[in-house]
Amino acid sequence: MSLSQIARSLKASPTLKLNEKAAILREKGDPVIHLGGGEPKSRAPIDAIMAAVNNMNTGEVRYTPADGILSLKKAVIRYTEEFYNRRVAPENVIVSGGAKQSILCALMAILNPQEEVIYPAPYWVSYPEMAKMIGAIGVAALPEDGTFYPRLQDIEQRVGSYTKAVIINSPNNPSGAMYSEEFISDIVGYCEKKDLYLIMDDIYHRLIFDGRKPINVFNYTKDLSEKSKIIVVNGISKMYAMTGFRIGWAVGNKKIIEAMTNIQGHQTSGPSVVLQLAAVGALNGIQSGVENLRVTLENNRNVMIDQLRSFEGVKVTKPDGTFYCLADFSVYDKSSNKLSEYLIDKVQVLTVPGAEFGMEGYLRLSYCGTIKDITEGIERMKWALDPNSPNELYIGDRKLVRDWV
Ligand SMILES: Cc1ncc(COP(=O)(O)O)c(C=O)c1O
Repeated sequence: MSLSQIARSLKASPTLKLNEKAAILREKGDPVIHLGGGEPKSRAPIDAIMAAVNNMNTGEVRYTPADGILSLKKAVIRYTEEFYNRRVAPENVIVSGGAKQSILCALMAILNPQEEVIYPAPYWVSYPEMAKMIGAIGVAALPEDGTFYPRLQDIEQRVGSYTKAVIINSPNNPSGAMYSEEFISDIVGYCEKKDLYLIMDDIYHRLIFDGRKPINVFNYTKDLSEKSKIIVVNGISKMYAMTGFRIGWAVGNKKIIEAMTNIQGHQTSGPSVVLQLAAVGALNGIQSGVENLRVTLENNRNVMIDQLRSFEGVKVTKPDGTFYCLADFSVYDKSSNKLSEYLIDKVQVLTVPGAEFGMEGYLRLSYCGTIKDITEGIERMKWALDPNSPNELYIGDRKLVRDWV
């Protein structure tokens, strides 16, 4: 069968593949612990559910404008005022099928084939594949100092005549690193000087720890006019635990939003009205769920870090936010794919190989599950990897025997 070059060049999303794998193993009755997940386990806000149900009950579920319904745009405008201290118009907002679609539409609206978009490494798995999908080139900028915190020079070095845009995701999936205000200020100034688009993927901006406050990119720009090339992307998936609702949005200048709307209009049209109304419910409703989730995640982060710090040979950087931790397991295996497979096979613990995020030798571990998942998962990993661990491990009444070393 002949497939397009683009189709052949794309990899399946490793995180979505892992979710499928976990479901298959669980169906077989395997006691899987999923430390690879990318979604909080709390319930969607009741205001979101009620709004969706009320709409469904009318029996009239119709198309919406390609860029989203006005009531959701208004909720996004209010959100932008609250968290970014910026007043925008409905024409500055597009609502998409998840932040993922907003980012893809933005890249399609900005990049010609062969043009480049730069993002710091480690990076979200979809950035390179999205660039490939439109014939453009994704360029990863690994911080030279070996940390998860890029400096302007790391980006600057990769900028050339083909560079059109930079994507910044902070706090970051997969490292949990929240970049400094100094870096955000530097990158805003630099992109403005070089006339580059700056896409701020802020999907985790409120899931931050240790008393930090979300960073507002607009505090560092000199240009708040319609010429601004800053695009802020956000959504309900992570902070409202509404991953399956598939609603995200972008805020940018009217021209770019119009271009993104044209693209989205021919792709999917506007997202489902039911889910857009659910998003209105979430954004305008009771907000305590976001803070509860944040507190739970901070506690989970602390537990995971304690567990990992007592893991012989593993190097870990404390995440500042999100629900991920990217730990260096290279002492056990230089190939993160092999190590991740090994952990699934031997102890049914799912982790995401760091290679998928541009960090070979690392594993991404999620702490969005329960404390029991975190402690038991890491316990099992220690047992599988540490040659000095006892010969047997009980998972419930199932006995595992180390017959491989
Ligand atoms: C960094 C980052 N950006 C965007 C997204 C997409 O979020 P959504 O569910 O809104 O499409 C994710 C989801 O995992 C993510 O980790």
